[in-house]
Amino acid sequence: MIPVRSYITLLYDYLRRQKVRVALLTVTMFTSIGLMLVGPQLVRTFLDRAIDGEPTSRLIPIAVWFMVVAVLTQLFSVIATYLAEQVGWTATNEMRADLAAHVLDLDMSFHKQHTPGEMIERIDGDVTAQADFFSAFAIRVLGNSLLMVGVMVMLWLENVWVGLGITLFFLVALGVMLRIQAWAVPLWKQVRARSAELMGLIGEQLGGTEDIRGNGGVGYMMRRFTGILRSWLPDQVMGRMGFAALWGTSIFNYLVGTVLVFWLGSVFFNDGTLTLGGVYLIFSYTEMSRRPMEQIREQMERFQKAAAGISRVQGLFDERSALDTSGTALIPGGALRVEIDDVVFGYDEEVVLDRVSLDLEAGHVLGVLGRSGSGKTTMARLLTRLYDPIHGEVRLGGVEISQAEIRSLRRQVGMVTQDVQLFRATIRDNLTFFDETVPDERLHEVITELGLDGWLASMPDGLDTRLESGGSGLSAGQAQLLAFTRIFLEDPGLVILDEASSRLDPATEKLIERAVDRLLQDRTGIIIAHRLATVTRADDILILEDGEVVEYGNRRALAADPDSRLSHLLIAGMEEVLA
Ligand SMILES: Nc1ncnc2c1ncn2[C@@H]1O[C@H](COP(=O)(O)OP(=O)(O)OP(=O)(O)O)[C@@H](O)[C@H]1O
Ligand SMILES: [Mg+2]
Repeated sequence: MIPVRSYITLLYDYLRRQKVRVALLTVTMFTSIGLMLVGPQLVRTFLDRAIDGEPTSRLIPIAVWFMVVAVLTQLFSVIATYLAEQVGWTATNEMRADLAAHVLDLDMSFHKQHTPGEMIERIDGDVTAQADFFSAFAIRVLGNSLLMVGVMVMLWLENVWVGLGITLFFLVALGVMLRIQAWAVPLWKQVRARSAELMGLIGEQLGGTEDIRGNGGVGYMMRRFTGILRSWLPDQVMGRMGFAALWGTSIFNYLVGTVLVFWLGSVFFNDGTLTLGGVYLIFSYTEMSRRPMEQIREQMERFQKAAAGISRVQGLFDERSALDTSGTALIPGGALRVEIDDVVFGYDEEVVLDRVSLDLEAGHVLGVLGRSGSGKTTMARLLTRLYDPIHGEVRLGGVEISQAEIRSLRRQVGMVTQDVQLFRATIRDNLTFFDETVPDERLHEVITELGLDGWLASMPDGLDTRLESGGSGLSAGQAQLLAFTRIFLEDPGLVILDEASSRLDPATEKLIERAVDRLLQDRTGIIIAHRLATVTRADDILILEDGEVVEYGNRRALAADPDSRLSHLLIAGMEEVLA
């Protein structure tokens, strides 16, 4: 079934925004179709008058009119095509932007389930099919349908029997086409889903080129690749078969139509009901409807793709974030008190955080320790509300974060992740997240304050130096330093640092130490620590083990207690124990 209703609702939404252009388009389209119908009438008059033996001087004006009409027809159809493309692409570009914004709002579990490649295919591929179809839809399908109706009216006016015969024929032909189309649409849907899957795999492969090669995963990846291609093949073949069936039907229709016209024409010419000009007129109109029929048929293939795309676009729009973001409470500015109250969380069935509680005073620093996989990063994610806990509450500055306005929350909490994401852009854009309103002076100020001026001076073009995506060319430590600058510019009340677990060279380590000192001034800090130096700056320490808090308290008190886990850690050397 073609989702005509959802199609129209969605398009109407986007067309409403460009009323004037749509109105212009309608007017030019009607004009060009009207003109097209006038042409054969002029020829008919010309023929009949010539046969009646009228003088050439009276025939010439008709010929001139015919030429004028022909030129105007072309002119208007060019304008209509231009407008249709404009309308189509404007509407679908807006749709693309809305979809992208919508997807960025979805929660992290959605993004974990869908690969970047798939999202590209869904946001761009599916929407391009709409643009493609839609710009053509107005001009070809609507325009051609109108033309067909016009032709029918003209035929009925010329001769009722001819009109009736050809109308019946067109209705039957259309019925057959629709039948075949209903069969072919699901086939295309399958093809598009497969191609999204393939894009997903390719995206994953490109993203992980280094790891795949380095770990000898090429063979495995190629097997998956060919596996998808192999199952793609029969789907493509069936999809194309549907298209070929439509095509064949339309050729057959055309043949039957021509035979019908000549038969009707000869019958009515012989009994004197039609003049020779009349027969020409009927033939010419039927011939004229050949192109629209052909184009409507062509559009049906596009419509199949677009219809498959539109339900997927709609499906994406209907995707709701698992997080309720309707909260309006504002997180206060300045250093924040952090309370985690009896929180339970798991990404799926497995519990990752089990009844975790803590209460961190505003302006204090908490060091979080634990082995790999103990749930440290997960805890940080709950604080920035990338996920909601299954049980328990998280409060920042006394406000429960599920009630807080999401913007205010993200502004007041700054997080530096274990592997900082850098964009393929200048250092300036990487620092400001493409916010052009941040003046260079402010950037230099922050960079100097964090002790990064020496590093910046070593970059060939200063702030304009382009970084490669994935941060190649930068060490993990340098990338973290860049992320610190981002946070400094935002000036949040809570800073969460998820330290890179890789070891740092002494020079970078020194820079980081200095930068962290500055970053934590007048802010609350949660540091997921992998280094001893970081632990010693914490006021409180929390140790996680398999998602449970096994030790939590004042650092000095814990360090003084020879039986505490912290003391054991410090004696054994934490890098060795936690590595
Ligand atoms: N996005 C995710 N989806 C599903 N499971 C996840 C996800 N992220 C982490 N996990 C799982 O949750 C558990 C805790 O992971 P987490 O990343 O919080 O550990 P961590 O303490 O930060 O470890 P590390 O020191 O290696 O960074 C692990 O078992 C991990 O496999
Ligand atoms: Mg982690």
